[in-house]
Amino acid sequence: MKLFDVYPLFNITPVKAQGSWLWDEKGEKYLDLYGGHAVISIGHSHPHYVKSLTDQLNKIAFYSNSVQNNLQVKFAEKLGQLSGYPDYQLFLCNSGAEANENALKLASFVTGRKKVIAFKKAFHGRTSGAVAATDNPKIVAPFNAGHEIVFVPLNDENAFEQAFDKNVAAVIIEGIQGVGGIQMPEDSFLKFLEAKCQSNGSILILDEIQSGYGRTGKFFAHQHAGIRPHLITTAKGMGNGFPIGGLLIHPDIKPWSGMLGTTFGGNYLASVAGLAVLEVMENEKLIVNAANLGNYWLRELKKLPAITEIRGRGLMIGIDLPDGLKNVRNDLLFKHHIFTGEAKPNTIRLLPSLAMTQDEADLFLTALKKELQ
Ligand SMILES: Cc1ncc(COP(=O)(O)O)c(C=O)c1O
Repeated sequence: MKLFDVYPLFNITPVKAQGSWLWDEKGEKYLDLYGGHAVISIGHSHPHYVKSLTDQLNKIAFYSNSVQNNLQVKFAEKLGQLSGYPDYQLFLCNSGAEANENALKLASFVTGRKKVIAFKKAFHGRTSGAVAATDNPKIVAPFNAGHEIVFVPLNDENAFEQAFDKNVAAVIIEGIQGVGGIQMPEDSFLKFLEAKCQSNGSILILDEIQSGYGRTGKFFAHQHAGIRPHLITTAKGMGNGFPIGGLLIHPDIKPWSGMLGTTFGGNYLASVAGLAVLEVMENEKLIVNAANLGNYWLRELKKLPAITEIRGRGLMIGIDLPDGLKNVRNDLLFKHHIFTGEAKPNTIRLLPSLAMTQDEADLFLTALKKELQ
């Protein structure tokens, strides 16, 4: 059988990884400043993470959510403590799209409404329809049975006011737009959304799937604005490569049996991987490291006149280059062996491990300066 050919691939096959580094099958070494779209939060194959998963694999890897799983409870407690949301509830699933599906469904269950406001250039995942095609009224929310989604420009309060009405179940927004090119919601705009949702009985959903987990120098990007959304979705960096998604749920939202569910979500291995990530983040003070190295990069990058614009916070940075410098990302990879990401039309996306070192940060600056000369 052949693979379904949906991904544009580089002809590089990583076979080993450690910290911020990858090795291919020829033994060539690469600096990874992308981490498979912000997934590698604590560094590749961190020894504590590897040991935790290996030990667990030798005990029990999976049993369904129909029995108690104390590892899930420990994971939830640690996440509550480190994220600043100890009073919230955690629902575990397997990916970012699933976390957002569950958030939209929950918002619709809570409000009885089915209209959603989202933002231009947003990316929230690639699923649709599974619940709507399920014949069980208990788990189909009004949203799943037919919905209206209105897209408004980011940071435009007037456009938002025009779309916002009593039918709105949820407003969904990324902490920082990732796929959309590191577009930042203003702190004042997030505060405005919070107030609007409060007064209208609508649910504010913060998609922190790319921007969360310490990347911006706070646990979640929206915490720079000092807001507390009803629902926060997370994935990517949660498992450092193990597929985990999650939904942090405001204490006022009450569950009922069967309201949400998934076969694999929060299984033993996933819980142990998630817990190990949080333990490393805490022990190695990775959020502070992300803030420091992010500020350093932003300061240094702003000195380079060839760059059109720089956006970002912490270790989530977008570098806009003019059309004439379209090859820079490929040159960084093939000439300097540095992996970065991109966003169209010509933005380099930096999403390194939060455990990146100063020397690794400098390697990138040196290579980029060479390419921009
Ligand atoms: C902000 C955001 N939300 C949701 C998703 C979807 O996550 P997944 O690919 O795990 O379904 C992504 C993936 O890139 C994302 O960046």
